[in-house]
Amino acid sequence: MAILKVARLGHPVLRKVAERVDPASIPTPAVQRLIDDLIETMREYDGAGLAATQVHTLKQIAVVEVLGNPRYPDAPAVPLMVLVNPIVTPLTDEMEEGWEGCLSVPDMRGMVPRFTSVRLQCLDREGQTVDVIAKDFFARVCQHETDHLNGMVYLDRMRNLSTLSYVAEWNKHWLGLREQDD
Ligand code: NI
Repeated sequence: MAILKVARLGHPVLRKVAERVDPASIPTPAVQRLIDDLIETMREYDGAGLAATQVHTLKQIAVVEVLGNPRYPDAPAVPLMVLVNPIVTPLTDEMEEGWEGCLSVPDMRGMVPRFTSVRLQCLDREGQTVDVIAKDFFARVCQHETDHLNGMVYLDRMRNLSTLSYVAEWNKHWLGLREQDD
């Protein structure tokens, strides 16, 4: 296992569409190693998810996990999931604004509208079919990571950039406000 270098905004790889993974290749050492490295890298940097695109590999693979994450202290838990060839389909027109950050856009947060309920279809690391309904924060993370696999970052989804903040300023000016509003 290895901690991989994460591409930052401006690296052209983040704007490319990742290639679909041949399901027959999922058990191979190369794909399994990539999955292990994605998990280790996500955990090292306290990400809620990480897409292969972000580690300079244009394959449709992402990992998600939220478990007592210091970057998202109030987020509901999301168990570790490996998403191979994920397809996310909105199940509602309802969107909710929520704060997001991204390991490829370090030290920043912004309010991003996301569908509150989506269907997630993908394969797991054993090549088994996954077909689940994801809601709220889990739905948000799925949308964020699948966007990466399609060459998009959360900034593209913001209605405008007026909430875009450095983390220090976000803690000072936005976090308290948000909690009062809730
Ligand atoms: Ni991201």
